[in-house]
Amino acid sequence: MTGTAIRFILNDEDISLTDVAPDATLLDWLRLEKRLRGSKEGCAEGDCGACSVLVGRLLGDELIYESVTGCIRFLGSLHGTHVVTIEHLQGEDGALHPVQQAMVDQHGSQCGFCTPGFVMSLYALWMRQPDPGRADIEKALQGNLCRCTGYAPIIRAGEAISRYGEAGADPLQAEREAIAARLRGLMAGGRVELGEGENRIIVPASLDDFAAVLEANPGARIVAGSTDVGLWVTKFMRRIGPVVFIGHLGELQHIEAGPEGLRIGAGVTYSQAGTAIGAAFPPLRELWKRIAGEQVRNMGTIGGNIANGSPIGDTPPPFIVLGARLTLRKGAARREIALEDYFIDYGKQDRQPGEFVESLFVPALSSDEHFAVYKLSKRRDEDISALLGAFRVKLDENGRVAQLRIAFGGMAATPKRAKTVEAALIGQPWTEAGIEAALASFASDYQPISDMRASADYRLLTAQNLLRRFYLETTGQGQRLSREVA
Ligand code: FAD
Ligand code: FES
Ligand code: FES
Repeated sequence: MTGTAIRFILNDEDISLTDVAPDATLLDWLRLEKRLRGSKEGCAEGDCGACSVLVGRLLGDELIYESVTGCIRFLGSLHGTHVVTIEHLQGEDGALHPVQQAMVDQHGSQCGFCTPGFVMSLYALWMRQPDPGRADIEKALQGNLCRCTGYAPIIRAGEAISRYGEAGADPLQAEREAIAARLRGLMAGGRVELGEGENRIIVPASLDDFAAVLEANPGARIVAGSTDVGLWVTKFMRRIGPVVFIGHLGELQHIEAGPEGLRIGAGVTYSQAGTAIGAAFPPLRELWKRIAGEQVRNMGTIGGNIANGSPIGDTPPPFIVLGARLTLRKGAARREIALEDYFIDYGKQDRQPGEFVESLFVPALSSDEHFAVYKLSKRRDEDISALLGAFRVKLDENGRVAQLRIAFGGMAATPKRAKTVEAALIGQPWTEAGIEAALASFASDYQPISDMRASADYRLLTAQNLLRRFYLETTGQGQRLSREVA
């Protein structure tokens, strides 16, 4: 039986929408239709956090609440979720919520434009970590910008919340089971389809149903976390319909860690993957904290980062260097390719019509290999890389390069291996002189462009310096160097 309505809970109201445009955003609907104007529009591109709300979703049996940016979250993707806005926080007796009271008492708000977004981000953190440290608060607020307060009062408010209430007694915690049961009821109806032609929205009932839908509708746009597609609508006014929303498909959200490596479902978000990625590949921990901000990490998926095929997506270069393999699926048929072979040219990937990315397998490193990733961007937090380099080397018993893989983002039309540089070093002694001799080969591998993030010269020189850095760090000189530079 196919449902014909997008059904979710908004605060404590059951919502059932039968007429939804594929590109209708949650923020517009809240502000224009529901007149809930606590959520603000600042940037409309996921960057400022002014539109942050909580979305509760069923992950297996668990109901988890995450901060998301309503400006690039599509209404059609909310089927089976619980949307919580700032208006829901005030108590029946008018008392402020502990997070709000902490913000007031710590002077965390001046003009107030950003405040609802901060409150929702702190709320999501507080439910997870009632006594967060400063680093946790800063990480949770990476995706919230304030131009008035200088952030210190907001950080103090984040540290003070538990003085105003007990997280376990919070209504969202206390009512979780009942809400989860209501959401299961909303999801029980199987596939949802509404609209016609370009206005068609399909919310598949399962992974197999998604595979069948896409095989039958190869021109439909897949939308997972909408953190790329969202901007096509809000910034480039592109039409995106017909759309297949897949962010709810738990079968795409498995992470399997084994001695051979990590299998990551295409629908796994950065937030979901962080712990497993950090455990399996410690050099990726630093990068992971610098991908987007909390809200976008809660929405954006690994599959989307790869499938989007951006020349500057942060996960392909390290996964390419790690020898990752992609499983693509069409209907019931699956094929596996090396991740680097998926990227053919700018905007062109090896994906057949009706095919989707189902999962990624990232082989484990052996203990005698060195692996490093370096992200360079103008802002440390929440910024697209100017370039990103990933390196992996294994030396033989004589200190010669037995294996070497280097890949960059931001240096070519696609994420790309530095095969000429690799060839200049493989079989050679791993020495500073060898590195210096190989640097000229970068110009054969890459002809970077100049854009608002960096000049071509900067990119080429920095890529060479990153190889120097990798060499110094693999030979134990890196720490000395960073002490001298500090
Ligand atoms: P979507 O937007 O849902 O989809 C992206 C594309 O992939 C679409 O073409 C879609 O059709 C396709 N697609 C999605 N899933 C599949 C699938 N399973 N099979 C086939 N096709 C699929 N990216 C970075 O790398 N580093 C950053 O630091 C970073 N910062 C960001 C900051 C902000 C504020 C924003 C808004 C975005 C940022 N991004 C960044 C980009 C984006 O978040 C990532 O690329 C993200 O991984 C996209 O995943 P998604 O699920 O949101 O993709
Ligand atoms: Fe800026 Fe949504 S309006 S993140
Ligand atoms: Fe004015 Fe934060 S209080 S933008």
